[in-house]
Amino acid sequence: MISPDTLRQKYLDFFKSKNHAVISGKSLIPENDPTVLFTTAGMHPLVPYLLGEAHPAGKRLVNYQKCIRTGDIDEVGDASHLTCFEMLGNWSLGDYFKKESIAYSWEFLVSDKWLALDPKKLSVTVFMGDENAPKDEESAACWRNIGIPEEKIAWLPASDNWWAAGPTGPCGPDTEIFYWVGEGMPPAASNKGNDPDSWMEIWNNVFMEYNRIDAKTLVKLPMQNVDTGMGLERTITILNGKKSVYDTESFKPIIAALEAISGIAYGSDKDKDKDKDLSFRIIADHVRSAVMILGDPKGVVPSNVGAGYVLRRLIRRAMRHGRKLAMEGSFLRKPAEAVIAILSSAYPELEDNSQKIMEELAREEAKFLE
Ligand code: SER
Repeated sequence: MISPDTLRQKYLDFFKSKNHAVISGKSLIPENDPTVLFTTAGMHPLVPYLLGEAHPAGKRLVNYQKCIRTGDIDEVGDASHLTCFEMLGNWSLGDYFKKESIAYSWEFLVSDKWLALDPKKLSVTVFMGDENAPKDEESAACWRNIGIPEEKIAWLPASDNWWAAGPTGPCGPDTEIFYWVGEGMPPAASNKGNDPDSWMEIWNNVFMEYNRIDAKTLVKLPMQNVDTGMGLERTITILNGKKSVYDTESFKPIIAALEAISGIAYGSDKDKDKDKDLSFRIIADHVRSAVMILGDPKGVVPSNVGAGYVLRRLIRRAMRHGRKLAMEGSFLRKPAEAVIAILSSAYPELEDNSQKIMEELAREEAKFLE
């Protein structure tokens, strides 16, 4: 068993050993960026530095960052999608590029000293090229040199292998790393391109050497940056041999709290219980997001605008799913306490703001019940 706390620390230690400076994660509410409601990726707070400003901590950085992404909300409840997740990230600001980035990721994933994953259960994707940028032969060559067989390298279009934080700003082709989540060992020819449901993305290495100025204009940045993001919850899932993020220590205590309140058991695996289990997962995800947003020092509360509106919708959607589990009254306190207990070692602000979190949840529940 490897815990989220251990994985965070291993990640920081590994990149520290590669001369990266550890920087702290930022608020969930972006500073000086009115175009987005939440920090959606570890790179978000680093945009000025990816565009060329000197970072006070240097050119090699590493951290963990809490993120909120609601774009995939309809997929929440499957094995891997969450509205709130932690991203383990490392960056090169005009220092190393594809070769070192890919080599570092591989070493961290497969070395016995670090995560010791079975290389046979990993596959990758690379950018196939389009009118904006060429086919990423360089990344593919790096993977081949490391020993990845040709059939484990899938060439995919920009919709899969081009990353941008928004309509403008730093962007570029990426190479993504996947872990086998099918039964047994992966067939030799299987990869994300031809067998998409059997592979879970765990890490994305973006090679940010472009800047999107507007819909029509893409220019080269003055430097070649690396921006990587590893999904903490997904990596914990595969490291512990689980099928879904909800089967890990990041979620089990939240779901246990819901089972205790509802008197209904989670995870029966029976078809007739599918909707019920989905409701457990959606509530667990949404409570976790609501606690992280309410616990953030920037102080968002439920409202009818902006980030406060997203927060309100998450809480109310959790409550509607609560009704499907026969939880008619207010029930969010216990699962919220579980979230704080799980996450406050990495995010002490949750403990500091626990009173506010509980008060705001109770107030919103009361409003909804009215
Ligand atoms: N920015 C990239 C992502 O969010 C890599 O960190 O996937």
